[in-house]
Amino acid sequence: MEKVKRNILLNPGPSTTTDSVKYAQIVPDICPREKEFAGIMAPMRDDLVRIVHGDTKEYTSVLFTGSGTICLDITLNSLLEEGKKALVIKNGSYSARACEVLEYYGMPFIAIEQPVDKKPDLEAVEKVLKDQGDEIGYVYITHHETGSGLLNPVRETGALAHKYGKFLITDTTSSYAMIPINVYEDNIDFCMASAQKGIMGMTGLSYVIGRRDIIERSKDFPKRSYYCNLYRQYAYFEETGEMNFTPPVQTIYAARQALKEYFEEGEIAKWERHKRVMAAIRKGIDEIGFKEALSRDVQSGLVAAVRYPDDENFDFEKVHDHCYKKGFTIYPGKMQGKGTFRLCALGAIDAPDIDDFWKVFKEALELTGVSIPVKYI
Ligand SMILES: Cc1ncc(COP(=O)(O)O)c(C=O)c1O
Repeated sequence: MEKVKRNILLNPGPSTTTDSVKYAQIVPDICPREKEFAGIMAPMRDDLVRIVHGDTKEYTSVLFTGSGTICLDITLNSLLEEGKKALVIKNGSYSARACEVLEYYGMPFIAIEQPVDKKPDLEAVEKVLKDQGDEIGYVYITHHETGSGLLNPVRETGALAHKYGKFLITDTTSSYAMIPINVYEDNIDFCMASAQKGIMGMTGLSYVIGRRDIIERSKDFPKRSYYCNLYRQYAYFEETGEMNFTPPVQTIYAARQALKEYFEEGEIAKWERHKRVMAAIRKGIDEIGFKEALSRDVQSGLVAAVRYPDDENFDFEKVHDHCYKKGFTIYPGKMQGKGTFRLCALGAIDAPDIDDFWKVFKEALELTGVSIPVKYI
C-alpha cells in the first residue's frame, strides 16, 4: 500500500484519516441494492449503537447520506409531536443552527439563550420545563459546541428532561466516538454524528442513534420533510436493510474500516490519545503566551479557541497559509464578535504531530513579524 501524503488537520473535522481508511474506498464497483451491500450496513448500524453502549434491542442507528447538519434537520423535524414545541438550549453556533432549522420548518420552539462561554444555567431550563412542560415535545442540547469548544452538561440536562417526561436529543457530532458516551448513564434518547469526525472516516455519511420506541411512535408525528424523515428511513432499513435512496457507497466502505480501527484502538485508549493531543496543543499555547476564549475547565478538551493577540502584525490568513503549505491546517473561530482561531484534537494524529505543528506555527509568527511571547492589552 503506497503511502498517501499525510496532512495534519487541526480543523474541527473532516479529520486526518489513516491510509487504510483511505484505501478502503477502492473497491470493485457494486450496485448498493445488492444484498452484499446491505450486509455491510447491518453490522455497521449495530456498531454505531455499541459505541455509545446502547442495547440494540432498545436503540438503533439510522444512516443517511449527508453532512452532519442533516442529522440536526432530521431529528428536529421528525420527532416533534403535533401541537408541541421544541425546547432548545442555545449557547453556541450549532444550537443556533438548530434554531434556524426549526425556523425554516416554521416549527414552534422555545430557545433558552445562554452565554457561549459558560455552562448553561440548568435552573432556567428547569423553570421552563416546570412552567410550560405540557407544551414541550423534546429537549435539545448540543453536547460539544464546536465553535467555542464548550462542553455542555448533557447528563444533567437529560435527567431534567426525563424528570418532566420529555426525551433528550443531543447533537454529539463533534464528541461521538471521542469523548466516551453511555446513552443510559448520560440520559440520552437521541444523539448523532457523521463519519468524518469521531470515527475518522470520510465525508458524506451521517447517522442518528436513538430509541426505537420513540422512532416507532414518530410514525404518527407530522411529516415535515420527505427526504429528511427519521421514521421513513428507519422503516425502510428495517424492512429491506437498505437506505431509502442512494447511499454514499465508497464512504460506507471507508466507515467499515474506520469502525474496525475504532474498536481495535478502544474507546478509552482513543480518548486518552485525544487528550494527549490537546495537552500538546495547550503546551504550545502557553509557551507562545496565547489566551483562549474559554476557561479550560468548561472546555471539551477537543477544541481550543485561541484569541487573536493584540499585535498589528498578526494576520490569521498569512499564518494559516504558511502552515497549510507545510501540511498543517488551522481553522478560523466561530464566536461572533471575537477574533479567534481553532486548534482541534480530532483525527488520526498524536502528540508528536502537534510538536511538529508548533515549530511551523512559530516560524509563521516570526516570518510575519509577530513577537513571541504574544501580547494582550
Ligand atoms: C456540533 C456540530 N454539529 C453539527 C455540525 C455540522 O456538520 P456539517 O458541517 O458536516 O454539516 C458540526 C460540524 O462541525 C458540529 O461540530
